[in-house]
Amino acid sequence: MVNILVVYDSKYGNSEKYAKMIATALNADILPKKKTSYYIMTRYQIIIYGGGIYMDKINGLNLIIDNYDAIKEKEIIVFSVGTKDPNDKENFIALNKKLSKNKIFDNIKIYNFRGDINYKKLSIVDKTLINLMYKNLTKKPENKLHSFEKEFLEIYNTKTNFVDEKNIKDLVEYVKKVEKRIEDEILNDK
Ligand SMILES: Cc1cc2nc3c(=O)[nH]c(=O)nc-3n(C[C@H](O)[C@H](O)[C@H](O)COP(=O)(O)O)c2cc1C
Repeated sequence: MVNILVVYDSKYGNSEKYAKMIATALNADILPKKKTSYYIMTRYQIIIYGGGIYMDKINGLNLIIDNYDAIKEKEIIVFSVGTKDPNDKENFIALNKKLSKNKIFDNIKIYNFRGDINYKKLSIVDKTLINLMYKNLTKKPENKLHSFEKEFLEIYNTKTNFVDEKNIKDLVEYVKKVEKRIEDEILNDK
């Protein structure tokens, strides 16, 4: 049997929802980042890490980066959760640029899922940042707005339902293939 661990860091519950869906689909163990150590991760063959995107950075990703030496032989998969449409590659230029500065991400498969912003639950700091972004964008001429900026203005302060189980399909299929490969390797070694 291949051991799979799903770890998440979630400020407002969106990454947690996806982590739970993935863990259920793969029959995997699941832990929040704050309860996960490198030692725990070394007990698993497949580690899936997920966190929300904040200012084009994946929340809590230091768990993987800082402990990479201890877990580099494992199969590591990362998923991010953000409001920007994952089907539009332009939305990930800044995030991918930051990731590409670290060589470890050459070997890690990354999936991007769509999450919601619950405006009623935002912390004061996050609310201030979001309101500032909104205010700045309203000053930008419409023909200069990127598609994600237009969408941000459209959905600002509204309730969206972007979190969707369908989004995890590719990740789950990929992990099942990896699981099969590891099982075959174990059988061949016997
Ligand atoms: C201050 C702030 C900054 C954000 N920055 C981004 C961003 O750069 N890209 C993005 O796609 N979503 C961004 N979001 C949206 C969050 O990624 C989204 O709400 C996500 O679902 C949060 O996941 P979590 O609840 O698991 O933390 C931002 C949200 C806040 C409040």
